[in-house]
Amino acid sequence: MELSQLKKDIDLSLILDEVKVFAPATVANMICGFDILGFALNEPGDEVVMTRRSEPGVVITEITGDDGRLPLDPQKNTVSASVQSLLRNLGLEHEVGVEIKLHKHMPIGSGLGSSSASTVAGLFAINTLLGSPLSREELLPYCVEGERLACGTGHADNVAPALFGGITLIRGYEPLDVIPLPAPKELHVGVIFPQVDVPTRDARQLIKEKIYLKDAVVQWGNIAGLIAGLYEEDYDLIARSMQDVLIEPTRAILIPQFYEMKRIAMEEGALSFGISGSGPSVVAVTRDAHIAQKITEKIQQHLSEAEIESYGYISAVNVDGPRILG
Ligand code: HSE
Repeated sequence: MELSQLKKDIDLSLILDEVKVFAPATVANMICGFDILGFALNEPGDEVVMTRRSEPGVVITEITGDDGRLPLDPQKNTVSASVQSLLRNLGLEHEVGVEIKLHKHMPIGSGLGSSSASTVAGLFAINTLLGSPLSREELLPYCVEGERLACGTGHADNVAPALFGGITLIRGYEPLDVIPLPAPKELHVGVIFPQVDVPTRDARQLIKEKIYLKDAVVQWGNIAGLIAGLYEEDYDLIARSMQDVLIEPTRAILIPQFYEMKRIAMEEGALSFGISGSGPSVVAVTRDAHIAQKITEKIQQHLSEAEIESYGYISAVNVDGPRILG
């Protein structure tokens, strides 16, 4: 995607000295909508502390919570590279310098939109520091480019909900067309991350490039049904529709205990259960927080008996997206 020059009046004397931003984890695909649906979680999420410096240029001085896996080189790190790209297109590359501290509160390669949360936090932070000259719609292409740098493809189903909050539909990619969808209040999820590494790049290479028309018919019926269910707050329709006949059968192989976890979730009253993004995290969708909590505990107990460590998160849909912490 070509990122064009931006014309904005920015008063350099009004640039803030420091800002701290949280951006949320996301569940991409929403089970049936590969690359087109996603929603934001209340937790976990990543934090970026951005401080203005007197020299131009973008530097990263600290990354925590990544077990040393992310590059500090500002050209290679997704957060700094995205911030640099935005400053360049605003014509501020030689005027403004910032220092970034990135605090990761979620595992990398987990299927929770880890790179997206960091990129969105970074871009939201620089925009805030500059006095918010760009709308969230204008920030989105920079977030998508950051995702391309991190995973090799510019899918937007993590960055869009991380940036806008709520449930989002990527109606089209060329040009990007993001539609916000209603988030029924009772909808909750239990998200479980079994501690195995499944990089998005690898999980995408596994998927078949061609699909049968009969499977496509099932899947687009499900996507349409889910969207109708969200508008009508029809939980039975949501449950019937959140099923993935295209991607799950292939990717489930990469996730230990997937079908056992699914059995537990459905027995305990989940509306649906599937892979979060490209996995290995899985998501149980429920109608209330208690059921989500119970399912998460049971699945984590099961994983622990199978000697697989895991993290669990309970959340409603986060309708706010990034927030300024200070
Ligand atoms: N839609 C993407 C995929 C999300 O499933 O590969 C990656 O988090």
